[in-house]
Amino acid sequence: MRILVTGSAGFIGFHLARRLLGDGHAVVGLDGFTPYYDLDLKHRRHDQLKRFEAFEEAVVLLEDAERLSRVVAEARAEVIVHLAAQAGVRYSLDNPRAYLDANLTGAFNLLEAARAAPPRHLMLASTSSVYGANPSTPFAEIDRTDHPLTLYAATKKAGEEMSHAYSHLWGLPTTAFRFFTVYGPWGRPDMALFRFAERLRRGEPLPVYDAGRPRRDFTYVDDLVEAIVRLMAAPPVRGQRVSPRDSLSPQAPWRVVNIGRGEPATVLDLVAALETALGVRARLDFKPAQLGDMAETHARSDLLVALTGYRPQTPLEEGVAAFCRWLEAYETEFGPVAAG
Ligand SMILES: NC(=O)c1ccc[n+]([C@@H]2O[C@H](COP(=O)([O-])OP(=O)(O)OC[C@H]3O[C@@H](n4cnc5c(N)ncnc54)[C@H](O)[C@@H]3O)[C@@H](O)[C@H]2O)c1
Repeated sequence: MRILVTGSAGFIGFHLARRLLGDGHAVVGLDGFTPYYDLDLKHRRHDQLKRFEAFEEAVVLLEDAERLSRVVAEARAEVIVHLAAQAGVRYSLDNPRAYLDANLTGAFNLLEAARAAPPRHLMLASTSSVYGANPSTPFAEIDRTDHPLTLYAATKKAGEEMSHAYSHLWGLPTTAFRFFTVYGPWGRPDMALFRFAERLRRGEPLPVYDAGRPRRDFTYVDDLVEAIVRLMAAPPVRGQRVSPRDSLSPQAPWRVVNIGRGEPATVLDLVAALETALGVRARLDFKPAQLGDMAETHARSDLLVALTGYRPQTPLEEGVAAFCRWLEAYETEFGPVAAG
């Protein structure tokens, strides 16, 4: 297959593109190399992908509608996986406009380009953050998601909804994913695991918010990629529901699917896994709760299992150890990663 992956120099896009290339597919990897975090890390991810003959790099900003449309048209992709976005919950407090540009204008431009060169299956990333103030866990796809706590969540929710409208209007089979705290090698330096590992290696204390109570459904990146690859083969078909809680639209070939492990852990559990992996004791610097933080994220995975027969399962300790091994090797070769 020919597959277009946007955000291919990013954490998840890189892993997905590498897996697809390894499976023998042709991949066009589109990324705008935005300076949100260490650009060397992004370039080194693409360098890995460029080793495959079937990889084609396209350096394009989502906001550049004309160039984006040209690349999408020339890619002639059977599947488009749209992962490029302004990610990060905390950054959206200080830099809200970046989210409007990449996640609203950018997502709209991508949808327009896909309408002109329709793939057999359009897939796009949303987030567990859309569950926002929803108090009932675990989160099911059909639960309400109309009380976002951050602008990041609001823009990702808008992306889901815009894609539904396009799916309905132009008959585009579309799967939106809600990812739950993804982590692993080649990860994002703005996320807690990466920041904590760096601090522990430097012997610095770890800032822990809200007494370490918030719980996150940490999901290992290889498991997430496995789920995406399996979902690729299951485009939504109007009227074909697969379970009582299917999020399939009543009007369009569109559904949204959680991808999470389904076993939330506290930040203190994350610290314990890091202490074991790195063989050090952490000093904790307790701080008040952060604005916009959710108390808990927890994925209900029945829909993913009904569609793919697969449930993410890598234990946190195992995934954290794999991340630490990668970080050590990476920093030995290239030096420290610049923080987000
Ligand atoms: N990592 C997680 O835990 C997580 C959780 C929920 C949702 N998501 C979503 O998954 C997707 C991938 O996230 P990630 O963790 O790999 O993030 P990432 O920041 O590592 O990757 C995103 C990539 O998109 C590119 N990009 C950003 N804005 C762009 C623009 N305007 N034009 C072109 N390229 C642009 C960046 O250069 C980057 O390489 C995002 O849509 C994110 O919202 C991630």
